[in-house]
Amino acid sequence: MIWVVPLLVLLYFTLTRRWRSKNEPPLDQGLIPWLGHALEFAKDVPKFITRMKLKHGDIFTVRVAGHYVTLLLDPHSYDAVIGDPTSLDFSRYAQVLMRRIFSLELPLEQPAKAKTMMKTHFLGKSLSALNSTMSRHLEALLKTEMPQNQRSWKEEGLFNLSYGLIFKAGYLTLFAGERNNNGPGASEVYQEYKAFDSLLCKLARGMLKAEEKKTAQSAQRRLWELLAPAGLTGDSGSSSWLHAYRRLLQEDGVDEESQRKAVLMQLWASQGNVGPAAFWLLGYLLTNPDALLAVREEFGKLEKSGSPLLDRAVNTPVFDSVLEEILRLTAAPFITREVVQEKILCMADGQEYLLRKGDRVCLFPFISPQMDPEVYREPQRFKHDRFLNEDGSAKRDFYKGGKQLKYPTMPWGAGANGCVGKPFAISTIRKFVYLLLTNYDLELCDPNAQMPEINASRYGFGMLQPEGDLPIRYRPRDTQL
Ligand code: HEM
Repeated sequence: MIWVVPLLVLLYFTLTRRWRSKNEPPLDQGLIPWLGHALEFAKDVPKFITRMKLKHGDIFTVRVAGHYVTLLLDPHSYDAVIGDPTSLDFSRYAQVLMRRIFSLELPLEQPAKAKTMMKTHFLGKSLSALNSTMSRHLEALLKTEMPQNQRSWKEEGLFNLSYGLIFKAGYLTLFAGERNNNGPGASEVYQEYKAFDSLLCKLARGMLKAEEKKTAQSAQRRLWELLAPAGLTGDSGSSSWLHAYRRLLQEDGVDEESQRKAVLMQLWASQGNVGPAAFWLLGYLLTNPDALLAVREEFGKLEKSGSPLLDRAVNTPVFDSVLEEILRLTAAPFITREVVQEKILCMADGQEYLLRKGDRVCLFPFISPQMDPEVYREPQRFKHDRFLNEDGSAKRDFYKGGKQLKYPTMPWGAGANGCVGKPFAISTIRKFVYLLLTNYDLELCDPNAQMPEINASRYGFGMLQPEGDLPIRYRPRDTQL
């Protein structure tokens, strides 16, 4: 009988393993049955992927918690994934995340319809209106935080200041409306959202401990309550986008409870990345005086010329280069697609690989091109003028293997499922930074402070967040720039 146990173990390993067939990418399943590389993957994504890249090259398949994920790391080949939404589907994996993070089930075709509708609200003329409402809320909230007649310094964490103000202004612009301006509503939603957001990555990976699960569920329930009236009626004060979104959900037969969950998901999509991006931008400026000076000079000229700084028509190449650079350093989304029909993936170097139906394909542009030393010299370093040519124009030509890259960075995704909110997000960050630098004295509490470490659990989920915060102090300026 003594041989039964080893035999069963052997049988288990044999049955749960998969065998690589001809033409498939290198396969690395890890030693632990079913889990595969899940633990190492969740602990430090870039470290794990870099290790696998050194072992297997620019394409390989790993087993992660029962799923087979093919990672593609050659930026010259990204179009083969982004450009084939028929075989490589966006919505199925999005539905998995919706279920795990928001306990939400929507009809499969619903998000695509919602996105088409969203474009009409976040681009063109509607965008200008949104930008000016957002701008008004940002100014009002900043004045509440720090009245113009105050003379003493106020100390705060820069992450909390940036995330909090942008989140609240965004919430008032899109979800709650003018009537609630400066009321307790926005602050309460922010506090609950922060509790939820701090557990979001663990929720997505299904790795919450019992106590954390309770916290996440309680924040979620409170947010559903707080968001219940948002967009429900035309006069709820919410943006026309949210009202149209609610109507679309109703037309698609989505019940009231799921509508609230869907509104929370939209709160996350629209607010979860912008504040953190503004934090990294301001933080890198404050810890790099030459960069701060260059941006101040550019804003100073705008200030003198009386330009309103609300739309892209205003030229801010120095600010744009700083934004591009901080997104290169701190935007780390996974671009994930599900293989819904078998596909031959043709790499830029001519190699062909078979992708199996049911697997996932994942791009991680953070590793390459964004942190690739072949593309960017000293990729770990912040260089505010990295995306500027010598004549001051925007630089977009970057090379790998002697060939120009189509996507030198990819913070917003690309192709049919690229970010709809990109122009709104850029305008918001620019306005926020402009307001702070033109109307306030802003400095580090410790002049020698360095940028905080990155919270390693957030790789794969959009903008990174810091571990801890960067203490700053600010007060209204006597004179403008
Ligand atoms: C710094 C801020 C932001 C960053 C870095 C960011 C990043 C991204 C990325 C990487 C994707 C693509 C995901 C993929 O292809 O798998 C995406 C999609 C999306 N983003 Fe953003 N985003 C930001 C702000 C916003 C804002 C402000 C909104 C809304 C107002 C928004 C709405 C969306 C939506 C709806 C999608 C899904 C597109 C689809 O269904 O195909 N994002 N975003």
